[in-house]
Amino acid sequence: MDRIRITGGVPLEGDIPISGAKNAALPLMVASLLTDEPLRLSNLPHLVDISTLANLLTSLGVDIVMEGDADDGGHIGRVLTLTCGALSGTTAPYDLVRRMRASILVLGPLLARAGRARVSLPGGCAIGTRPVDLHLAGLTELGAELDLTDGYIEARAPRGLKGSVVRFPKVSVGATENVLMAATLAEGETVLENAAREPEIGDLANCLVAMGARIDGVGTDRLVVAGVPRLSGARYRVMPDRVETGTFAVAAAITGGDLTLRHADAGPVGAVTEVMERAGVEVTAETGGLRVRRDGAGIAAVDVTTQPYPGFPTDMQAQVMALMAFGDGAAVITETIFENRFMHVPELARMGADITVTGSAATVRGVPELKGAPVMATDLRASVSLVLAGLAATGDTLVSRVYHLDRGYERLVPKLVACGARIERIPARGEAGA
Ligand code: EPZ
Repeated sequence: MDRIRITGGVPLEGDIPISGAKNAALPLMVASLLTDEPLRLSNLPHLVDISTLANLLTSLGVDIVMEGDADDGGHIGRVLTLTCGALSGTTAPYDLVRRMRASILVLGPLLARAGRARVSLPGGCAIGTRPVDLHLAGLTELGAELDLTDGYIEARAPRGLKGSVVRFPKVSVGATENVLMAATLAEGETVLENAAREPEIGDLANCLVAMGARIDGVGTDRLVVAGVPRLSGARYRVMPDRVETGTFAVAAAITGGDLTLRHADAGPVGAVTEVMERAGVEVTAETGGLRVRRDGAGIAAVDVTTQPYPGFPTDMQAQVMALMAFGDGAAVITETIFENRFMHVPELARMGADITVTGSAATVRGVPELKGAPVMATDLRASVSLVLAGLAATGDTLVSRVYHLDRGYERLVPKLVACGARIERIPARGEAGA
């Protein structure tokens, strides 16, 4: 397996192009199932998860044409045209779903388009059991009949889906997306109450409206959908990735550098930039991006609690913990969304970080320096927090299992090298034990 070696201590300076948002691109690609006309998506990131989903959609009958890379000055955003003229299947098999949990999002659209679906239960992952009960309850409310057999969800809606009121007992990004997509073709009105408000859902809703869907309340926790008989194709540009934006903002802060994050949108990262500014980092919105710098000032310890949007995002928890490892004082970081999202803690501790975990709270006592060490990536965001710590540590850090990074960060190493980082990817040697 490939590894990444970082030699820390270089303040990063320069520009980083922010790619399209993974967590918007995935549901947007699934939306192609809702119409038999072409859906052209631009600014898609080059990520393993995108390729995995493309394979699944192709197996369901979606014709996918890559229209090359739209290059606007060094930023390569992939352009895909997805056309589901006719479904060739309605099964999402385990070997694909287990690799990319977001595959569960095909359930609602398949029910809406074909009245049936057979989707493998995604199973858990490193950060938690990741149940899908809220997806199933919401679709059942729209009239779907669901059975769980042999690890698969067998779903039917022989008389089509009927609009209804879906009250989510807990905020769920994926369940909101699944039900929202299904509701666009349901008969009558659907109200989603306590809907997730993540900006990626706004991106999906805006694209669905461009396809002819009728959705009110976009951006709020109450979405009202008037079902329509069919949707048309559309052309849509995926929003910039707010988690990548936050990640590189931490890279500037942790190395004491000065980075301009091109294409970054300040709005969706408000909770993150607010924490950064309280930590003593300068964040300024500039035309076409966001400038983040820390020149010499210390890193103030800031307590953080993850919350559904617009609160502090759980996908930035590991990254801000790496920053607080260098903080002046103690910061308490509380994870309220996932039950096991502190796996970066023991790896940061190997580098000398002083972190104590008690239940869902991690107390990070800042230290003057971390020392580079061999560390292991365990999940997407934990992996990148180790890279961030390595960028600021003394000496070399060797991160193994970097395939986790490839799922969510496009060209991470080249983007950092271009800003002066001493970082390189070491291909697996090929022999056993590599
Ligand atoms: C999305 O996951 C993101 N993934 C996650 O990003 C992100 O961390 C998460 O939202 C929270 O913001 C994509 O968009 C592809 P949830 P999702 O449903 O939809 C529980 C990354 O690093 N829950 O909002 O799976 C669940 O266990 C990934 O890019 C149920 O109990 O998240 C969790 O505790 C990681 N039942 C909480 O709700 C359900 O049916 C929030 O999950 C569904 C979820």
